[in-house]
Amino acid sequence: MDYECKVISNVCLKGDYYRIVFSAPEIAEKAKAGQFVHVLIPTLKDRILRRPFSINDTDPEKGLLTVTYKKVGRGTAELALLKEGIICRIMGPQGNGFSIPDEETFPILVAGGYGSAATFLLAKHSAQKGIFLMGARSENDLILVEEYEKVNYDVRLATNDGSVGHKGFVTELLDDAIAAAKGRKIMIYGCGPEGMLLALGRLALEKGVKAELSLDRNMCCGTGACFACVVKVKDESAPEKWRYSRSCKEGPVYGAEEVYYG
Ligand SMILES: Cc1cc2nc3c(=O)[nH]c(=O)nc-3n(C[C@H](O)[C@H](O)[C@H](O)COP(=O)(O)OP(=O)(O)OC[C@H]3O[C@@H](n4cnc5c(N)ncnc54)[C@H](O)[C@@H]3O)c2cc1C
Ligand code: FES
Repeated sequence: MDYECKVISNVCLKGDYYRIVFSAPEIAEKAKAGQFVHVLIPTLKDRILRRPFSINDTDPEKGLLTVTYKKVGRGTAELALLKEGIICRIMGPQGNGFSIPDEETFPILVAGGYGSAATFLLAKHSAQKGIFLMGARSENDLILVEEYEKVNYDVRLATNDGSVGHKGFVTELLDDAIAAAKGRKIMIYGCGPEGMLLALGRLALEKGVKAELSLDRNMCCGTGACFACVVKVKDESAPEKWRYSRSCKEGPVYGAEEVYYG
């Protein structure tokens, strides 16, 4: 569904990271963690191509939808300039989203960069408060950390340059997080750069822990019509044992066991 949504606020969090809040009651009511919205930015010259963003937070009572984004190119630069009161056409909620952890499940969330936007609703609503592992190039790319602390997640950080937390990859924090679950049933939820997610998926399979990965491919239509967003998934019946899956429709969240790593 496509809705006309008014910008309520649009502020810089730090550096190139921004948070925009829309009045979007229909989307806020239905959205779940890991789903995304497809936003038509009204001031862009090519007014056809939308930009996909994870649903970072919702307030169904007030009808609010929050998106947290990084300014990386033309579309996001225009998005950052939108003032309160501007109307954007937004499709959503799109995609399948993460499964909701039951009361027995200890969630371990693993995010890289703006991937922390996609896993937040899960942290907010999960029955058990688990561990949030966040990795980034440096301190400047660590975002939403306080939000996870506020919802009582155990936050553990890694940066490539060692400016904050563990120096190295966020996946290097996984063993300690699994040990902290003390034998409880674990589910890993990941969102971030593809290299990180593929490494995470392989590790989860090796360790016999279930994992869901949000594979955020560049998108065009966002509705399953154009095949711009395909990812390779395992398919035993196919000659090469894999097939293409449209991540906007069947994804963006895939089980670690579904992903083709070849
Ligand atoms: C399901 C999904 C959820 C997403 N959620 C968020 C989010 O919550 N916050 C956020 O900041 N971004 C998110 N993205 C990425 C976001 O859609 C792109 O950053 C945005 O479309 C770039 O638009 P642009 O016109 O500014 O950049 P462009 O001018 O189109 O591209 C600028 C640079 O960004 C890269 N880029 C473009 N699209 C993507 C992409 N999908 N992933 C990684 N790099 C990309 C390009 O390769 C290029 O290097 C998500 C993408 C998907 C598919
Ligand atoms: S973006 Fe067109 S099929 Fe997914």
